[in-house]
Amino acid sequence: MANLELLREARFGEIGVKIYEDRSDASVSVARRIANLIKQRQSESKMAVLGLATGATPVKVYEELIRLHQEEGLSFRNVISFNLDEYFPMQPDSKHSYVEFMKHNLFAHIDILPENIHIPDGTLKEEDVEKYCEEYENKIEEVGGIDFQLLGIGRTGHIGFNEPGSSADSLTRMVVLNDVTRTDAAGGFGGKENVPTKAITMGVGSVFKAKAIVLMAWGESKAEIVKHALEGEVSSNVPATFLQHAKGVEFVLDKEAAALLAAS
Ligand code: PGA
Repeated sequence: MANLELLREARFGEIGVKIYEDRSDASVSVARRIANLIKQRQSESKMAVLGLATGATPVKVYEELIRLHQEEGLSFRNVISFNLDEYFPMQPDSKHSYVEFMKHNLFAHIDILPENIHIPDGTLKEEDVEKYCEEYENKIEEVGGIDFQLLGIGRTGHIGFNEPGSSADSLTRMVVLNDVTRTDAAGGFGGKENVPTKAITMGVGSVFKAKAIVLMAWGESKAEIVKHALEGEVSSNVPATFLQHAKGVEFVLDKEAAALLAAS
């Protein structure tokens, strides 16, 4: 197995931070951690419950998980997954949907059972969303809670689609997307006007119930928000700062995303 270039480990309060030479090594390290969890659960004949994220950040983690499945026989038949969020409204077969993203980037290439995959439903009638969100929370609890939650971070400091103003105990719900978030998504949608204005997202409180949380961030454009998340005052203006009060949180960064941290 290739050695991964871990440049530095640090602690910011309760949060452990691992800084890698590049995002590829960082992603492989996170994929190995997920694989180890899955295998450990297999040895106990138990399910592993994963909280999964979309966006550019986790793509290489998923690539490595696919490689581990195809080349090293890692099975996902004991995995239950819950995705963080989905645009609203959104048809699952749209190229913009997170259903399509997950299929393309992970699920179509591994042996996870379709009935074990959960992604918020962007096709609901608005009046049915609240009940659906409650059921999403209940399903997570019924399977024993999330063992490992993967997170990216938006430039607004959102986790999932918990935009500024989200509270620390927020649960799965419909939210209105922030302007910065819609601007960042505009490229993929061929213009900001095509980006949905709403989404269904797991809440900050839902994420915090996970037994382990890994937030990943790559590149210079994330350096400022990473610094704020780790060193800034805890506030709903930057929901990622709430992670300073959560248990079992690790940040996995490349050196560019870590460049502004105090001890770097
Ligand atoms: P990205 O998005 O992975 O595409 O950078 C992260 C996020 O907005 O949470």
